[in-house]
Amino acid sequence: MGGSPMSSGQPRVFVTRRIPDAGLALLRDAASVDLFDSGMPPDRDELLARVAGVDGLLCLLTDRVDDELLDAAGPSLRVVSNLAVGYDNIDLAACARRGIPVGNTPGVLTEATADLAFALLLAVARRLPESERFVREDRWVTWDPLLLLGREVSGQTLGIIGFGRIGREVARRARGFGMRVLYHSRSRAPEPVETELGATMVDLDTLLGTCDVVSVHVNLTPETRHLIDARALATMRPGSILINTSRGPVVDQAALADALRSGHLFGAGLDVTDPEPMRADDPLLALPNCLVLPHVASATDTTRARMAEKAARNVLAGLRGEPLPDAVPLPAV
Ligand code: DGY
Repeated sequence: MGGSPMSSGQPRVFVTRRIPDAGLALLRDAASVDLFDSGMPPDRDELLARVAGVDGLLCLLTDRVDDELLDAAGPSLRVVSNLAVGYDNIDLAACARRGIPVGNTPGVLTEATADLAFALLLAVARRLPESERFVREDRWVTWDPLLLLGREVSGQTLGIIGFGRIGREVARRARGFGMRVLYHSRSRAPEPVETELGATMVDLDTLLGTCDVVSVHVNLTPETRHLIDARALATMRPGSILINTSRGPVVDQAALADALRSGHLFGAGLDVTDPEPMRADDPLLALPNCLVLPHVASATDTTRARMAEKAARNVLAGLRGEPLPDAVPLPAV
């Protein structure tokens, strides 16, 4: 995969996957780029070998960046840039101990991700996957007043857990669909934001127990792992819908399967799973009321190009010893 890095006076950057040209072109203007030219991630041994002696690393959410990798890279490494807004694949403390800044790609994927969360909401509420299969399986024989009845969206209450950029954009879309919006977050949004989006902050159990649809938009941290567990699912309203476009481990999938199987939940829409990829024999995929997508919320041509550019600009700033345009806050060490 790819070639060995050029020997030039330029800093060396390892890019762990094929990424949009917009990002590569920026990097190649200023650095010697070693590209892992594949649609698959490098295996661990390859990754550890290829980072040895590099000055910059542009990695993906599928690459684990930890002490082992940073040791393999060695003291030349000056910047780690993740091609994602989430960074749960990176051991921030390990980077902080070595004084290595970490970059991510916030802002540019907000709309695309909010669109996809809303697409999941509509698809699950209106049973689009089942309806589409119905036609393909040639089972459509007449217009039937009782056929494939879904849930009304307008007039329902949407609960948003995590009210950052993406959560707020989901609220904006919900408002356009005539939904009432509640949210739960660590901190309260400024009053003008609440007013503009018509959103009211409530505690988690109130949100779970009140809302017809719950959409999750938190980072994955030790505190949010299995935030949506059996207890949280039991607290959700009977007949409600769960949407997750954040990270798979935020939801306890075994408990979710139970809640869907029993009919306690009307349906679920997941863009993220635990683990990824989800295999076709996963119990969730046997359930007609569960829609699973392969982590594609940011997958538009425009958004991915912008993510690649942002990730490249973080690398370049790190190589120059400048503050990263999008730096992840590192823990104190
Ligand atoms: C992210 O950026 O964290 C998404 O999960 C992928 O775009």
